[in-house]
Amino acid sequence: MPDKITVEVDRSAVPRHVAIIMDGNGRWANARGLHRTQGHARGEPVLFDVVEGALELGIEWLTVFTFSTENWDRDEHEVAFLMQFNADLLERRRDELNDLGVRVLFMGDIEDDRVPEVLRERIQAAEELTASNTTMTMVFAFNYGGRAEIADAVRRIARSVLAGELAPGEIDADTVQAYLYIPEMPEPDLVIRTSGEQRTSNFLLWEAAYSEYVFTPVLWPDFNRDELARCIAEYQERDRRYGGAIDGSLRGPSL
Ligand code: IPE
Ligand code: IPE
Ligand code: MG
Repeated sequence: MPDKITVEVDRSAVPRHVAIIMDGNGRWANARGLHRTQGHARGEPVLFDVVEGALELGIEWLTVFTFSTENWDRDEHEVAFLMQFNADLLERRRDELNDLGVRVLFMGDIEDDRVPEVLRERIQAAEELTASNTTMTMVFAFNYGGRAEIADAVRRIARSVLAGELAPGEIDADTVQAYLYIPEMPEPDLVIRTSGEQRTSNFLLWEAAYSEYVFTPVLWPDFNRDELARCIAEYQERDRRYGGAIDGSLRGPSL
């Protein structure tokens, strides 16, 4: 893996928040006659190469999808592996992330009974250790589902209404935002999905309303900081309009 980004990218126009659906570990392993779990293991050094690349570019927020609310449906051995793997990864990498000035946050249903206690403890330890870091915030979307996040927000909004703290007529998009898992998280500018799949799979449904998507055929274990830079260069070609008109001007013959 390269030590520094070698791909040309405009360093003055880097997205503030990049979110990644790290997909293709199983296919990478299958293609080599390996077990799917070996694909997940191979994804760890890739993730940390991407973290270094993100730091090199000055990205402020990096969110990675590590386990979805639907991933519980996988074979029990794979699920057990992923739980232990995530716990061990936090133990192995916590100090490194801290030394790099990275603040670690989790988003998702960590209180779910199916999440092992050791993982819950390590999540808490990593968040506490890195809480005052300011170089970059890295969000692990774990046991995360966009629908569950919105349903959770709706449930808590309903409680506030019942408690008389909120009037139904006052509820707008900003209210919903304030009840999400990390209300202060800026919207992702760019969502990258590896492995050639072109779907959201329930990732950041609310937050990514106006994100640009870049889909790359590269499987996650083959990804690296240069691939990240390539995705960002593609993003930099896009024209984000947020529902406005091209160039913000009226086109065509005047009426
Ligand atoms: C992504 O890789 C990792 C997780 C979902 C945890 P996959 O395991 O989905 O790999 P493919 O899509 O089967 O190749
Ligand atoms: C999305 O990938 C979840 C993560 C990368 C953690 P999946 O592999 O679970 O998504 P589908 O099943 O292809 O939609
Ligand atoms: Mg997949």
